[in-house]
Amino acid sequence: MERTFSIIKPDGVKRNIIGKILTKIEESGLRVVATKTMHMSRREAEQFYAVHSARPFFGELCEYMTSAPVVVSVLEGTNAVAAYRELMGATDPSKATKGTIRADFGLSIGENTVHGSDSLENAAIEVAYFFSGTELVNSAK
Ligand code: PPS
Repeated sequence: MERTFSIIKPDGVKRNIIGKILTKIEESGLRVVATKTMHMSRREAEQFYAVHSARPFFGELCEYMTSAPVVVSVLEGTNAVAAYRELMGATDPSKATKGTIRADFGLSIGENTVHGSDSLENAAIEVAYFFSGTELVNSAK
């Protein structure tokens, strides 16, 4: 069993498709073990995406991620990190495999609806960045 971290980005929240995305996650076999809506501050976004700080789109990415609320979640399942990356699809929705979240809902490379951790190590860091210990329950399974 692994845990990974997910964000439903502002374009997903604004279009009122949180439920559709969480349904897709659940139907894939992953379990939502914690979830909340929040509005990221500029400082939180810059720190969260610090690994991309030298990239040309960094400012745009942080601006976008703070433009409206997001839904942060912890997902649990077998090979959860890789399983969720596969379910999300490619960063650019136009290149994402049919049936993935980004292919179905993504608007552009920036407004691509979801974020998912890229490694187990980063998943633990990202979960701890947004969730406190008391918000993380044991799986109901
Ligand atoms: S990945 O998943 O890290 O390999 O993807 P990558 O292409 O390196 O992109 C990292 C994150 O930056 C976002 N991104 C952009 N935002 C705005 N404008 C442009 N042009 C752009 N290109 C990439 C991309 O959606 C990734 O966000 P997250 O939240 O990590 O999925």
